[in-house]
Amino acid sequence: MNISNEPHDQPSRIAEIADGKAVKAEIHDEVMAAEPAVQIQEFNLWYGAKQALHNITLHIPRNQVTALIGPSGCGKSTLLRSVNRMNDLIDGLSVQGEILLRGESIFAPGADVIELRKRMGMVFQKPNPFPMSIFENVVFPLRIDGQRDKKVLREVCEQSLRGAALWNEVKDRLHESGLGLSGGQQQRLCIARAIASDPEVLLLDEPCSALDPLATGKIEDLIDELRGNYTILIVTHNMQQASRVSDFTAFMYLGRLIEYGPTTQIFTKPRLRETEDYVTGRFG
Ligand SMILES: Nc1ncnc2c1ncn2[C@@H]1O[C@H](COP(=O)(O)OP(=O)(O)O)[C@@H](O)[C@H]1O
Ligand SMILES: [Mg+2]
Repeated sequence: MNISNEPHDQPSRIAEIADGKAVKAEIHDEVMAAEPAVQIQEFNLWYGAKQALHNITLHIPRNQVTALIGPSGCGKSTLLRSVNRMNDLIDGLSVQGEILLRGESIFAPGADVIELRKRMGMVFQKPNPFPMSIFENVVFPLRIDGQRDKKVLREVCEQSLRGAALWNEVKDRLHESGLGLSGGQQQRLCIARAIASDPEVLLLDEPCSALDPLATGKIEDLIDELRGNYTILIVTHNMQQASRVSDFTAFMYLGRLIEYGPTTQIFTKPRLRETEDYVTGRFG
């Protein structure tokens, strides 16, 4: 028996990464075979002198759900915020590498960042409805665009609330404040607002972390319904959630991509011991 091929005899990647060594990510073929909506290529990011992302290459399949997992501080939110250039607002930030949306660089000279963010709706950990009515929350992106046609606004409002599985709960109180909704409803309201501008990509950063199990279940059902119409990139620290909602899972550690493949493979037969240790809760 050739035990030198046993993964357990290989030096630990986690230890190598902790020593600052570059380690090649383990990318399953299925990921590369899928049509990408977003291609992150050899992407590096620094907060001042501190490097937070190291040489990340990650293709995000179109109209499917991709989960980013990894211990707290490994760079999941940083990566998510890079994709719609939300990080641009941070002082001292520098980046290197490329991110393509449908084949076009998001960093191209003249790229319209406002337009980019419309194409990539974002939902955060804590629901952040605006202090205005449910109706105005949803149509906010259209108002910014100067849309005044009441019929258009009403239609988009209904469509988006239906899309976010909230319509039936709020259709009789559209002019009440969005702040009066429960936490789970507020988060679905934020998803409705995100889809009102008809984005291609939805970026969800731990969207259920402030919600109870029932509200979390509703958001997970919603993600399942949105699959197919939107490319979804979701950060979650909840392994069960990643395995329930996503088609693909990327495991990150200390700012690097470690393993990326179909969710069933990542959770049932990962190629790397480090991934297995993380998804089975042995560290993190
Ligand atoms: N605005 C910021 N300024 C400086 N450092 C930051 C900033 N945001 C995040 N970081 C650092 O970058 C690393 C990655 O953070 P983050 O992307 O929030 O990780 P995660 O979402 O996986 O928990 C951490 O070390 C964190 O402290
Ligand atoms: Mg985070």
